Amino acid sequence: MSVETSTLLDGLNVDLAHEYQAIVMYNTYAAAVTGIHRKELQAFFLEEVADEFEHAKFLADKITALGGTPVTSPAEVRFTTDPREMLESVVKAESETVDRYVYRMKQAQEYGDYGLASTLDAMIADETRHKEESEKLLRGQWG
Ligand SMILES: [Fe+2]
Ligand SMILES: [Fe+2]
Repeated sequence: MSVETSTLLDGLNVDLAHEYQAIVMYNTYAAAVTGIHRKELQAFFLEEVADEFEHAKFLADKITALGGTPVTSPAEVRFTTDPREMLESVVKAESETVDRYVYRMKQAQEYGDYGLASTLDAMIADETRHKEESEKLLRGQWG
């Protein structure tokens, strides 16, 4: 079964909207986080933004290389000032992103773009690290 360019482009645009979501989420949470752990959580959130921006740059570039139009709006971000809720939202978003990239990597292989598949493989490693770090923060601070 072969993958159409338009199908791959639709998928990559979903991925891009979620990278923009991650950027907005981390930046918003860094600004809004309250409590005794504010400083360390703020630093953690801002550190993640840099990775997500690299991912967004790559995806927008790839979409235009394949002849598509990159989306310009992020997927929705849930606002909260509660650190625990922030970390839970982060773990959920990162887990869903890992699943999305595993699927997209297989799609890229079927499509025959092994360079894309290889970059997605590296992005899976980044998102897995984000997920695991957030899980550890959740565990360490609230049991
Ligand atoms: Fe990302
Ligand atoms: Fe991430």
